[in-house]
Amino acid sequence: MTPDRTKAARDLLAFYLEAGVDTVLGEEAIDRLSNEDPVPREAVRSPPPRGPERAPLNRPAPAALAAPPAAPMLSPDAAVMAAREAARRAQSLDELREILDGFQGCALKTTAKQLVFADGSPQARVMFVGEAPGRDEDIEGLPFVGRSGQLLDRMLTAIGLDRTSSYIANIIPWRPPGNRTPTPQESQVCLPFIMRQIELADPDVLVCLGGPAAQALLGVKEGILKTRGRWFAYRAGPREIRAIATLHPAYLLRQPLQKRLAWRDFLAIKAALDS
Ligand code: URA
Repeated sequence: MTPDRTKAARDLLAFYLEAGVDTVLGEEAIDRLSNEDPVPREAVRSPPPRGPERAPLNRPAPAALAAPPAAPMLSPDAAVMAAREAARRAQSLDELREILDGFQGCALKTTAKQLVFADGSPQARVMFVGEAPGRDEDIEGLPFVGRSGQLLDRMLTAIGLDRTSSYIANIIPWRPPGNRTPTPQESQVCLPFIMRQIELADPDVLVCLGGPAAQALLGVKEGILKTRGRWFAYRAGPREIRAIATLHPAYLLRQPLQKRLAWRDFLAIKAALDS
């Protein structure tokens, strides 16, 4: 490769990274705009016996490659209204998951691999809510399974909990591309669903993991270092439950000295569950 082409290739890779492309799906790029069928590797090695003439190049793209029919885009306000209406309809967590899976009002759904609804036990007395799934969660379809999830598991163990005795979800149930911060509009659209999820799970104690979850659910404006460790009353439908915010495990991985603050919060959570 000439130095010019090497530089162009590097620039293109840098562009992909910035655009949030972080998973390699195959060794060879597929030109999805071409009318040609992608040539399978096997066919290159041993050509099949000659069949009928190839179809003309301007035939319609094969169904698997054709773009899915576009869902009509809702205005931001209409999307929030639709989310409220859809969330209200759910009478159980299973119904909520199904409704959310079919909801077309949040564009994150189109870039995520799958819905990341919840993990743990819906019967648990404590529910943890984070911000949004990352790459590992998107692949597995479960919240908090990556590095921050492993730290969360260790924190749960430290107060005698695990994923059978806690319920875990996120404000946003689809991974934002490249793990970018969700926009305020995306949070607003997803908020009715997580609020309904909390109401249907009906925990005794709600724990917001990190500032964005605390701001969305507790309505606080201050940063997480001011908010953490304080108890709030959270209205979950007809019930008022105790809610607390603590530091997000991803932050603790970057700032391990702050674990002592999170430890205090976790002791307070344990005391609340023991009382
Ligand atoms: N961070 C979150 O807020 N949620 C996850 O599920 C994973 C990482």
